[in-house]
Amino acid sequence: MSFSGKVVIITGASSGIGAATAIAFSKEGAKLSICGRNKERLSETAKECQENGAEVLEIIGDLLEFEHLEHCIDKTVEKFSAIDVLINNAGRSLAKPFENTEETDFDMMFRILVRAPVFLCKYALPHLKKTKGCVVNVSSVASLCTKIGDLPYQMFKCALNHFTKGFAAECSPFGIRVNSINPAVVMTRFAETSGFSMEVMDKVVERFKNNHPLGIIQPETIAAGIMFLCTSPHITGILLPVDSGFLGTI
Ligand SMILES: NC(=O)c1ccc[n+]([C@@H]2O[C@H](COP(=O)([O-])OP(=O)(O)OC[C@H]3O[C@@H](n4cnc5c(N)ncnc54)[C@H](OP(=O)(O)O)[C@@H]3O)[C@@H](O)[C@H]2O)c1
Repeated sequence: MSFSGKVVIITGASSGIGAATAIAFSKEGAKLSICGRNKERLSETAKECQENGAEVLEIIGDLLEFEHLEHCIDKTVEKFSAIDVLINNAGRSLAKPFENTEETDFDMMFRILVRAPVFLCKYALPHLKKTKGCVVNVSSVASLCTKIGDLPYQMFKCALNHFTKGFAAECSPFGIRVNSINPAVVMTRFAETSGFSMEVMDKVVERFKNNHPLGIIQPETIAAGIMFLCTSPHITGILLPVDSGFLGTI
């Protein structure tokens, strides 16, 4: 498997699954455009990728902002003249019971979990047509059951699943593939990004430990699943659970 010279954009690459994915691609010769808000952490990812020999563009900014979406695509094309792979990974949960959920929370969750990946796809489409590239959306098992995650998170990851399938159908005639990966609990900074403490994350891990017969998942495992989807020429429109057996236990 080689991505030598291929241009890969990864959102949410300052941490967790996105960082692990950037590092995995850097080992395969990809040119990386990595996005995140936290400058320091994004630079840590960039440094590790550069140590693997990758050329890296760091794009700092908030994907809640409309202008930033087109900016990520434009900056990538300005630097590397192409886009081969788009990984829509950035995300967070709300960590609030539904009865405490405000309209502004709902809007924010929609913007990061649906609007951002959808419009990144839209802006990347002309470039993906030229390369017959591919997209991987990072969804969640929370979209495949109602046992885990808050309600807006579950709903918007469902919307992302549906977009994945519909966009895959629209893109097949252009030779572009679109898939999603749907992880169960992965050990990342997700708690912190979502505004709750690591103690709460520890409780989540404790609660769902028995629902992960193959163990709580490491980000590198999800990165491997993403690479698989990017290198499988006849797979498109699928939702791939990487769930450590989670769905079989509920
Ligand atoms: N961890 C899990 O158990 C799990 C399970 C299933 C699915 N997922 C999904 O996996 C994806 C990655 O999460 P993770 O577990 O790797 O968590 P993480 O370590 O917290 O990483 C989340 C990434 O998303 C970025 N991000 C969040 N909001 C953003 C915004 N408004 N603008 C720009 N970037 C933003 C963060 O950037 P900054 O830190 O720079 O702000 C960070 O790089 C998410 O879509 C999540 O829903 C996670």
